[in-house]
Amino acid sequence: QLRGGGSRTLAYVVLDTSNPFFTDVAEGVQEAADGAGLALFLCNSAEDSTRQASFLDLLEQQRVEGVLITPVDAADPRITALAGRGTPVVIVDRGAGPEGCSVTVDDVLGGDLAVTHLLETGHRRIAFVGGPRAIGQVADRITGSEKAAARAPDADLVILETAALNVAEGRRAGERIAGMPAARRPTAAFCANDLLALGLLQQMVRLGLRVPDDLAIVGYDDIEFAEAAAVPLTSVSQPRQLLGRTAAELLLEEARAPEQHRHQQVVFAPELVVRASTRLRP
Ligand code: RIB
Repeated sequence: QLRGGGSRTLAYVVLDTSNPFFTDVAEGVQEAADGAGLALFLCNSAEDSTRQASFLDLLEQQRVEGVLITPVDAADPRITALAGRGTPVVIVDRGAGPEGCSVTVDDVLGGDLAVTHLLETGHRRIAFVGGPRAIGQVADRITGSEKAAARAPDADLVILETAALNVAEGRRAGERIAGMPAARRPTAAFCANDLLALGLLQQMVRLGLRVPDDLAIVGYDDIEFAEAAAVPLTSVSQPRQLLGRTAAELLLEEARAPEQHRHQQVVFAPELVVRASTRLRP
């Protein structure tokens, strides 16, 4: 039984619908909503906190049963305020403090898995491509990369910070890498998501460079396009649908029995999927 008086609707405020990672998460949310016989509102903040704020107002007015959100800024006080006024909230793919529910994937482990794989396949000059660092996920993936690199004293990890996590920024990173003097140029790149990795791969091809021979590439998320790329991408896989489904189930649990509900921070483990964009070096 839900709160009653509500709209029998859940909402997911998505950060960026142009990133298939989030549409996969939304699929998981939809499954849980279907299972509970609820309708789902999908709102795209498009990484704009003003849009996000007006969606939150609107959803509260609509008396939705609860709000799932991948926020522009996880510390946005409007989110805590909404929860404080009685609308259950679960943060998806960004951390929440102990005062809220969240469902995330261990990004430090993900960064570690990616760079360990590159070290094991013989690379020593490795670039981390991603940014801005202010995104918690990016910072954690860097921390994981540094942890792995620290275990190989002869490894050289350079951080190429990008302005966003998209294909265009991946292409720009490709220009930067190709412009480096050969002796200093990385032989491998770990990208903070697959969109960056796909842009980087495209730029390498445009410049006549070979993947993985001139540059091995690891992406992150394992979206469907990772496998479909001209050179299938090695990627750190996140359980995207499971992330969405679990978050929606937590939300429904709170909506059904708010008094018994205890906030939880669920963390899943990522897995490395090896494909042709990385290959053993002799
Ligand atoms: O902000 C977007 C990124 O964060 C996604 O590509 C995915 O990696 C998520 O964790």
